[in-house]
Amino acid sequence: MGSKGHELSRRAFLKTTGAAGIAAVVPLLRPISARTWPGNQRSGLRPEPPAVLENGFPMATEPLRGLAAKKGLLIGTAFSSDAFKKDPVYGEVMAREFNCLVAENEMKLDVLQRVRGQFDFGPAEVMMAFAGRHGMKVRAVPLVWHDALPEWARDKTFPRSEALDILREHIFTVMRHFRGRVFAWDVLNEGLSDTGPGLREEGPWYRSIGPEYVERAYHWAHEADPQAALFYNDYAMDGMSEKADRCYRWVQELLGRGVPIHGVGLQYHVRMDKHPQPSEVTQNIRRFNDLGLIVHITELDVWLPKNAARAEFQQQADIYRGVFEAALAAPKCQAVVLWGFTDRYSWVPGISNGTYDHALIFDRDYRPKPAYEAISSVLGNTAPADCGARVREGVPL
Ligand code: XIL
Repeated sequence: MGSKGHELSRRAFLKTTGAAGIAAVVPLLRPISARTWPGNQRSGLRPEPPAVLENGFPMATEPLRGLAAKKGLLIGTAFSSDAFKKDPVYGEVMAREFNCLVAENEMKLDVLQRVRGQFDFGPAEVMMAFAGRHGMKVRAVPLVWHDALPEWARDKTFPRSEALDILREHIFTVMRHFRGRVFAWDVLNEGLSDTGPGLREEGPWYRSIGPEYVERAYHWAHEADPQAALFYNDYAMDGMSEKADRCYRWVQELLGRGVPIHGVGLQYHVRMDKHPQPSEVTQNIRRFNDLGLIVHITELDVWLPKNAARAEFQQQADIYRGVFEAALAAPKCQAVVLWGFTDRYSWVPGISNGTYDHALIFDRDYRPKPAYEAISSVLGNTAPADCGARVREGVPL
């Protein structure tokens, strides 16, 4: 990589958008990019990242967050407080490259309420403090889920009114605690059945309350923090899949009943040999946008076989490129969040029993992979249809 390509694209940017384009974008960029690096304040738009990381690895290009901000896009990553505590390079690269964070596990029920009724915000606050220091937006996942349950809720069926009380208390306590610091919440995660039709029936909330738990959760969440954007988040619905069709109809129905839902999260965990085409991803995002909803890509990673060959890393880069192109081509895709950024701490080898690996954009030694380059080039590129003058709508950046 090198800064040359970015210089070129900056020039192309100026040429395509002219001064009016720059003027339209700059005010929106300031809140994010000005806080990124101290040097920014002196040099206006141009970030001045350190050239060498603490581990000695040279980083010469303009960071992704600066490039993304020019497109009006948030680029995020999952944050692991364990990795953060033991590995200084982890935080360094994260602060440099991303302008949005989500807790990988620290805001799930089994951490926040490991003991029933006793809320532990400690691990999440580690991330919140880091995000505050580095001018990063925070989105949160998930308030309600059938997974990541503490012992006291796992395999349980509660009397209906007790389950409603648990959910209500959890939503109010957690959202009020983070109010003003979390801009988007995945209120419900993975609530739809995989095989359809209808909702997933496993988990204590459906079992104890029935389908109504969904609406209750969104209304409570809206009451707890009326400013927050409330999302529904799920997997296997990134492209125009059957599940995405079902989600579309279901969300439309919820909106029709006045349920406060503002966005849809596409998890986007994909394998190299099984992933949607960028055009259908744009089409999918667009139809949710047409319902008035914002879309976030929330947990992007691209799994390669454990013993992947060189060519497969290139294919992976193409998939990452396609995701960002798809996101930029849609009217209201506000954020692309990766499920981590270094293969050193990815969940993929564990969840796939060692079959898959290498799913992220930096290798285990924080060397940027071809996927990093691909994203950098999409974000640094000024395609005529999507030049910098265009600003993503939705919650202001
Ligand atoms: C995963 C984490 O990455 C792992 O560390 C944890 O052991 C299990 O959960 N969909 C989600 C995320 O919504 O919360 C999951 O995160 C990955 C799948």
